[in-house]
Amino acid sequence: MKRALLALLALTAALQTAAHAATVAEVKKKGVLVLGTDPTFSPFEFKGSDGQIQGFDVDIARAVAADLGVRLEIRAVGFGALMPQSVTSGRVDMAMSAITITAERAKVVSFSGPYYRSAQVFIVRAGNPGKFAWPADVKGKTIGVQGNTTGQYVGGDLLKPKGATIKVYDDFAGGLADVRAGRVAALIGDAPTVTDLQKRLPGQFAQAGKELVAEDYGMVFAKGSDLAAAANRTLARLKASGDYQKLLNKWIVQK
Ligand code: ARG
Repeated sequence: MKRALLALLALTAALQTAAHAATVAEVKKKGVLVLGTDPTFSPFEFKGSDGQIQGFDVDIARAVAADLGVRLEIRAVGFGALMPQSVTSGRVDMAMSAITITAERAKVVSFSGPYYRSAQVFIVRAGNPGKFAWPADVKGKTIGVQGNTTGQYVGGDLLKPKGATIKVYDDFAGGLADVRAGRVAALIGDAPTVTDLQKRLPGQFAQAGKELVAEDYGMVFAKGSDLAAAANRTLARLKASGDYQKLLNKWIVQK
C-alpha cells in the first residue's frame, strides 16, 4: 500500500515537471534565465581556455536574458539529454546548441524563428578528401554521427541505404578523434564546425563533397512557452541594430 502510494506520488511529480513550461513572467520573477547547452561545438558553444562556456549561441542567449532584464546561467548538458528532455522537464528554461529546427522536434518543444542557416557535411581527415565522394564512396565505409543529432538522422536516412555502416558517438569530440585516427572514414557534422576546426587545428580536418542537407538553427523552449516570442523580439532587435552581424563576424565569418 505504502509502495503504491509512493509510486503514485513519484508519477504525479514526474507529470507535473513534464507539463511545466517556464514563462517570461516566471523567468523575470526568479531573475535568471537558465540556458542548457552541450559546449563541445565551436564556434557555437565551447569551453574557452579559461574554462568559461562561450560562443555565438551564448552571446545570443545573453542578449535574450538582457532584454528580459535577468542574468544568464549556463548549464552544460550532453546533447542526448539536452534535446528535448532538459527543456520539457523544466531543468533549463531554454536550450541553444546549434539545434536544428525539425518538424519532429517541433512536436514536443517550441522553437524561436531560425537564427542561423547551416548544413550537414562530411568531415574527413585532411589530405584525403578527394578520396571521398558522395554517394559513390559511402558503400562499405564506416561513418560516424553524434547521437540524437540531425547528423544521426542523415546517417540513417541517406547513408545507410547506400551501404554505409553508421557508428554513433555520444559526443562530437569522440567522433573527431576517430576521424583523425582513421577509425571512421568520415563524421557527419555541421558545416561551420569544419571551418572552425580548420582554423583552430590547421591541417587536420577537411570537408568532403558537397552539403548533404541544409538546415536552420533555432532556440528551444518548452512547448507553448511565451519565451519563444521574447527570443524572436531579441533576434529582430539584434538584426536591426547590426549586432547580429557583429556576432557573426566575431565567431563565424572566416577572415
Ligand atoms: N545541428 C545538429 C542537431 O541539431 C547538431 C547539433 C549538435 N550540437 C552540439 N552542441 N553538439 O541535431
